[in-house]
Amino acid sequence: MLEGDPEVEITGIAYDSRRVSPGDLFVAVHGLHVDGHHYVGDAVAKGAAAIALERRVEVPKGVSVLRMPSTRIGLAELSAEFYGRPSRRLKLAGVTGTDGKTTVTHMAEHVLQASGVVAGAMSTVAFKVSGREVDNVSGQTTTEAPDVQAWLARMVEAGAACAVIEATSHALVQERVRACDFDIAAFTNVGHDHLDYHATWEEYLEAKARLIDLTARAADKGVEKTAVLNRDDPSYEHLARRPIPRRWTYGMTTASDLHPLDLAITGSGSRFRMKTPLGETDVTLNVPARFNIYNALCAAGVCLALGVAVEDVGRGLAGFEGVRGRLEPVDLGQDFRVYIDFAHAAGSLASALAELRPFTRERLIVVFGSTARSDHDRPGMGRAAAEFSDFFIITTDDPLSEDPSEIARDVQAGAEGKAPGLDFEVVIDRRAAIRRAIEIARPGDTVLLAGKGHERSMRTARGSEPWDERAEAEAAIRERLAVS
Ligand SMILES: Nc1ncnc2c1ncn2[C@@H]1O[C@H](COP(=O)(O)OP(=O)(O)O)[C@@H](O)[C@H]1O
Ligand SMILES: [Mg+2]
Repeated sequence: MLEGDPEVEITGIAYDSRRVSPGDLFVAVHGLHVDGHHYVGDAVAKGAAAIALERRVEVPKGVSVLRMPSTRIGLAELSAEFYGRPSRRLKLAGVTGTDGKTTVTHMAEHVLQASGVVAGAMSTVAFKVSGREVDNVSGQTTTEAPDVQAWLARMVEAGAACAVIEATSHALVQERVRACDFDIAAFTNVGHDHLDYHATWEEYLEAKARLIDLTARAADKGVEKTAVLNRDDPSYEHLARRPIPRRWTYGMTTASDLHPLDLAITGSGSRFRMKTPLGETDVTLNVPARFNIYNALCAAGVCLALGVAVEDVGRGLAGFEGVRGRLEPVDLGQDFRVYIDFAHAAGSLASALAELRPFTRERLIVVFGSTARSDHDRPGMGRAAAEFSDFFIITTDDPLSEDPSEIARDVQAGAEGKAPGLDFEVVIDRRAAIRRAIEIARPGDTVLLAGKGHERSMRTARGSEPWDERAEAEAAIRERLAVS
């Protein structure tokens, strides 16, 4: 319902009153922490030409008002319109799941580009348009709808024929990718290791399943609407019931449409022959860990469904060098391995260590800390390090206003039976902790630097300071190489 001038000219769309420019349409949405309806006055003061609302709020005279049942849906649809429905002008794949979304997104984007398709991608780590990359510093994996649409529009402008975007369940619930016309819905896994409440897992799964529904009813662009599903995951039965014209499954067994044959795990990755619904191809993966075989199968399904030839998929995967901060090797010729990983919770820390174990001849050393966010199981992280590594260094990771030493004590509490000095150390200064780990590493050891991954800042009581885990690791290795 519209009140006021229906011909009002809109120059932009804003959902954050602090970022309203004169002439913008301000859409009041219920965020995680704030409700935009409380900031209508501020938005008008900053020059908003029109306001979209789902609740009754007083709006000064002379400002056009759009009332709608859901401003979240409104924000998505209005943004898509504002930017000219960019997702109808390229083929679009969405990637969701608990783990591996970012990796699959960038793998698929890499394969597309490598096979000559101009492509775009949006993930936790970066926005990419035609091979050019911009860091994602928004703090959100899937940004709000206007940003999603703006990026898609930029991709179209740059001539992109395809785009791959990472969609968290949060984003799906909040309708951030609602006005995206998907062609492919890809799923990694839907873990429920730490969910004791079945209903919660079902709800979580339901949120993710919406990606299939969005895809099935999206505008037709001549690509058969396809769901790419992990057959080996407990989510499979549930997801396979969602109606969609085509379903491709991937997994380790021949029951899946895409699966590996003659799989060989190598020192730095794997090699296999990949069976697909469209033929076979040889694949060499230069990224470690078994889960990356799953990620590669998933990305292959996405690319095949988007029209890439099967041989090009094989060739493209071989050239994929991993995602920044995801088991990212740091190799300056030293005689021990160093990896950077984003794992910053007990479960992901345990699985990153478990993945590195088979590639480690001697000791597995890990540097990590717990963040200020209270939803992280600090003793659990200590337990994971104690169980899966041979030596660990507890350090600092985004403590915000909390005392890093106290956080470290909470972590240490989980490392029962482990002796300080012998089995682990606490080195609060992260730079010093990284240097310490590199200093004690011996030939054949693996050092995992966990938690910061691709992030570019360290958030402390003093505010946000620049941080570059790779630069720190390289500096430490260079120092070590210089003295030995
Ligand atoms: N398919 C997978 N299954 C389980 N764990 C994975 C998988 N892919 C990646 N991981 C782990 O999760 C971490 C995050 O990977 P990422 O691709 O960033 O996933 P997401 O974007 O879903 O958080 C990786 O560093 C790795 O330790
Ligand atoms: Mg991600």
